[in-house]
Amino acid sequence: MTETRPPLPASLDDVDGWFPKVDQRLFTWFLDRQERLGQSGDLVELGSYLGKSAILMGRHLHGGETFTVCDLFDSQAPDDSNQAEMDGSYASLTRTAFEANYRAFHDRLPEIVQAPTSAILDHVRPESCRFVHVDASHLYEHVRGDIQAAHVMLPVEGVIVCDDYRSEHTPGVSAAVWEAVAVEGLHPVCVTPQKFYGTWGEVKQVQDDLLAWLGDQDDLWHEVQEVGGRALLRVKSRSAPKAKKKDQVRELKERLARVEDQRARAQHELDSVRHSLSFRVGRAATALPRAIRRGGRRH
Ligand SMILES: C[S@@+](CC[C@H](N)C(=O)[O-])C[C@H]1O[C@@H](n2cnc3c(N)ncnc32)[C@H](O)[C@@H]1O
Repeated sequence: MTETRPPLPASLDDVDGWFPKVDQRLFTWFLDRQERLGQSGDLVELGSYLGKSAILMGRHLHGGETFTVCDLFDSQAPDDSNQAEMDGSYASLTRTAFEANYRAFHDRLPEIVQAPTSAILDHVRPESCRFVHVDASHLYEHVRGDIQAAHVMLPVEGVIVCDDYRSEHTPGVSAAVWEAVAVEGLHPVCVTPQKFYGTWGEVKQVQDDLLAWLGDQDDLWHEVQEVGGRALLRVKSRSAPKAKKKDQVRELKERLARVEDQRARAQHELDSVRHSLSFRVGRAATALPRAIRRGGRRH
C-alpha cells in the first residue's frame, strides 16, 4: 500500500505552527541587522514543531555558520508534565514531517538534536551563537534551564527570543523570563503579544535602530514603555480593519484634496472670465434691452 503524504508547503503560511507575522518581521529585522553589522555566529532553536520559525531562521544562515534545532519530535518527554504538554498540543508531530517541511524551503537540513532541550549544551559550544529562539517546554524549570543555556551559548551582544512569555496558560514561562531580567541581567529590547526579545549586551543602540525602522512600518504599531528604569518597546501588528480604515481615511483625504483643487481651478477660471472685456461687453449688451423694457413698462 502506498503512503499518502500531505502536500509540501509553498509558503510559510502553509506551515502549521505558532509564528505570528509581527514576529516573522522582527526575526528578519534582528537577523538582518546582525548581518549588516557583520556579527556572524550560529543559530539555535529550542522547540521547532513543524518548522515554521526554523524555516525563516534558516534563510539567514551564512557560510561557516551552523543552525541547530532541538526538539523531542516523536520521542518520549523527560517527565510526566512535559509528556502531558506533548500529548495535548503536539500529538501529530513527527520528525519526518518537520524534515519534509524544512526541505521544501532549503537544500540542507539543520543540525537536528532530537532530545530534551536540557541536552543542548552537549551539542552547541559556549558563546558560539548570535541568535537563540526559546520555544520548547512551557514548564518553569525547563524554560529556566533553556534561558540559562542560551546565556551560555550567546556572546554578550547575542539575541534571545522567548515565546509565550505572557500567555495565560504559560505562567512558568513568564516567571522564568522575568526572573532572568530581574536576577540574571537579561535586558529586554522589545515585546510582541507572543514573544520577548532580549540581550545580555548593550541595549540602547538596538532599540534606537529598531525605533527608526518601526517609524517607517505602516503595518506595525509600537510604543515605548519604561520597566524598572529601562526602556522597553511594545510592538504589534496593526489589526487588519484598522489598517484598512487608515487606508480608507487616506483615500478620502486624497479625493477631498482633488475635489478642492478642481473647485479652486474652476473658481479661478470664473473670476478671470468675469473680469475679461468680452464678458463685460456681453453684460452691457444684455442689460440695455432689459433697461428699455423696464422703461417701457413705466409709461
Ligand atoms: C510551541 S512548539 C514550537 C513552535 C515552533 N517554533 C513554530 O514556529 O511553530 C513547542 C515544541 O517544543 C517541543 N518540546 C516540548 N518540550 C520539549 C523539551 N523538553 N525538549 C525539547 N523539545 C520540547 C515540542 O515537541 C514542540 O515541537
